[in-house]
Amino acid sequence: MGATASSGMWKTGESAQEQGLGYVPDAYQVPLRDRPSLFPDTVTVPLIDLGGLWKDAVQRSLVIKDIGNACCRFGFFQIVNHGICQTVMDEALQAASSFFDSPTDEKMKYMSNDVHKPVRYATSFKDGVDKTQFWRVFLKHYAHPLEHWMGQWPENPPRYREKMGRFCAQARKVTVDLMEAITEGLGLGPSYLTSKMEAGMQVMAVNCYPRCPNPEVALGLPPHCDYTCLTVVLQSSPGLQIMDLEDCTWKSVPKIPGALQVHVGDHLEVLSNGLYKSVCHRAVLNSERTRFSIASLHSLGLDETMEPAEELVGAQGKKYRGSSFRDFLNFLAANDLGKRKSFIDTLKINQ
Ligand code: OGA
Ligand code: NI
Repeated sequence: MGATASSGMWKTGESAQEQGLGYVPDAYQVPLRDRPSLFPDTVTVPLIDLGGLWKDAVQRSLVIKDIGNACCRFGFFQIVNHGICQTVMDEALQAASSFFDSPTDEKMKYMSNDVHKPVRYATSFKDGVDKTQFWRVFLKHYAHPLEHWMGQWPENPPRYREKMGRFCAQARKVTVDLMEAITEGLGLGPSYLTSKMEAGMQVMAVNCYPRCPNPEVALGLPPHCDYTCLTVVLQSSPGLQIMDLEDCTWKSVPKIPGALQVHVGDHLEVLSNGLYKSVCHRAVLNSERTRFSIASLHSLGLDETMEPAEELVGAQGKKYRGSSFRDFLNFLAANDLGKRKSFIDTLKINQ
């Protein structure tokens, strides 16, 4: 890696991706072996119609089975008929886009590299740190309970709170429904996690990936797994790739109108004692348009420990040690996302 982020190649205060540079500075160029293929195979990921969850017992059990199979095979699926109307989704993406369009001063109010902050804006620009940078700008904020956190979200654009808040509440409802279906499918019963999820966390990662002049050499987000139980993602255009567990290659996820993406996170892998897989994924770039995504990340409370369910441990014993969301934040503060070590690997026992 040649230049560091602090070498003065571009104006200070704003990252290359925010400035719309016509080239990709060295610090953003990922090592050759990690460069993305922008047009790999498109994977036929399961598309699950959630409408069947509320029809009758037979339909419900079929949907639950499909969800369970997808969690084993990919740790990933897409959903339709999830109950969030198109207007709510479109308005949330609009709110995100207008936030990133706001004057720099406005965004700077929330700028922080402290991963423990409940509301923060950041680019991958860390002054003086010599490591690969990613072509992403993001706003993260807590969202549950909504009344508690909303007052700390950006005041501008003026309808940001209202539009994003509506999406957060509905994404949460979908996640509760999905968790009930998942724990039911695991044989733990639908309310196994309900009260812990109610007391749990919802973190929104509102991502902006500006157009990139040379998308072959940079990444929006490096390969990672989410620490969550479940993540529900809304995107404005395609750009997500997932690691196919069967042949260990990257696959593009197609954009299906109206669909949301669902990622199994580390804590669901732990709960299922390894039966379900936390999906490894990354975000690739394009030179044509800015892409937005809104990830709704759901986990138990900050200090609530997630452990393998006793009912699923069996003769092999526990494959993972317990951990909390706070443990993950401490891991994140000490280990950069771009590094190869992942949180789930630190939880595995004797594997
Ligand atoms: C994330 C994430 C994917 C995307 O925010 O954790 O994986 O498509 N986002 O932006
Ligand atoms: Ni992710």
